[in-house]
Amino acid sequence: MRALLKAGLFCTILFCFSFSGAFAQDIKLPEPDFKKPVLKALKNQRSVRSFDSKEVPLQLLAEVLWAGFGINRPETGGRTAPSGGGSREIDIYVVLKKGTYKYNPQEHSLDLVTNEDLRPIMFTQDYAESIPVNLAYVSNLNRLTTKLPIEYTMMHSGLVAQNVNIYCVSVGLGSVIRSPRDSGKLAEALNLREDQKVIAWHALGYPGTGGSEQAGKKGAKSGKKAAKKGTKRPKGKGGGGGIPPLVSPR
Ligand SMILES: Cc1cc2nc3c(=O)[nH]c(=O)nc-3n(C[C@H](O)[C@H](O)[C@H](O)COP(=O)(O)O)c2cc1C
Repeated sequence: MRALLKAGLFCTILFCFSFSGAFAQDIKLPEPDFKKPVLKALKNQRSVRSFDSKEVPLQLLAEVLWAGFGINRPETGGRTAPSGGGSREIDIYVVLKKGTYKYNPQEHSLDLVTNEDLRPIMFTQDYAESIPVNLAYVSNLNRLTTKLPIEYTMMHSGLVAQNVNIYCVSVGLGSVIRSPRDSGKLAEALNLREDQKVIAWHALGYPGTGGSEQAGKKGAKSGKKAAKKGTKRPKGKGGGGGIPPLVSPR
C-alpha cells in the first residue's frame, strides 16, 4: 500500500514538473517541405537587379497587381494584403515607357495617368534603365485611419511589396524593392496631393544574366555611405533614401 502511495506521489510530482516546463528542451524543427508552392517560392526569394529586355506579358502584370493589392473578397472589398483598420490607403502606380497608370482594384484595370515616359526620374541606380516594369507605392494618408500612427503606412506598403515579391518569384520574374530617391520629382510628375506620399519603388521583369546579388554602382556607393553614417537617422526633407517625411496633415 505504502509502495503504491509512493509511486502515486512520484507520478504526481513528475506530472507537475513536466507541466511546468521543467523538462522543456530545445526543439529541432523538421525541414520545410519545399514541394509546397509558397515555401518553394520563398526558397527562391532574393532581390534581382539584372533584367532581360523581354516584355512582361499583360497577364503576368495583371497578376502582379492583383497579388499585390487586388480584391480577393468582392463582397466586402477585402484585399490580398492586410492594412490597419482596413485603411487600404496604398495605390500602385505602374511606370512604363509608354506611360504611367494607376492600378484600379475595383475595376481590375489600369487607369492612364500620363502618356509621358516618367522612367528617367527613376534612373537613380545604374541598373534602373533596364527595368521593364517600375511600380511605385503611393500612400494616400487621407485614407489611413486616424487612430493609427502615420508610420503604419510603411508597414502597409511593405505588405503589398512582399505579396508582389512572392508572386514574382513564383512565376519566374525577378524583382527588387527600391528606395524612392527623388520621389518628390515623381510626386510632382504624377500631380500628387500633399497628403499622397511615394513610399517605395518596386522593379520587376524577367531576370537577366548579370547576377542578382550585386547592388548597382550607385546603389553600392549609397550603401557604403549609409554604413559610414552608422545608425544616424537621415535629417530633413528627402532623408531615408528619398522617402518624404510623414508629417502631412490627414
Ligand atoms: C525598404 C527597402 C529599400 C530597398 N532599397 C533598395 C534600393 O534602393 N536599391 C536596391 O538595389 N536594392 C534595394 N533594396 C533591396 C535590398 O538591398 C535587399 O533586400 C538586401 O540587400 C537583401 O538582399 P535580398 O533581398 O536578395 O535578400 C531595398 C530593400 C528594402 C526592403
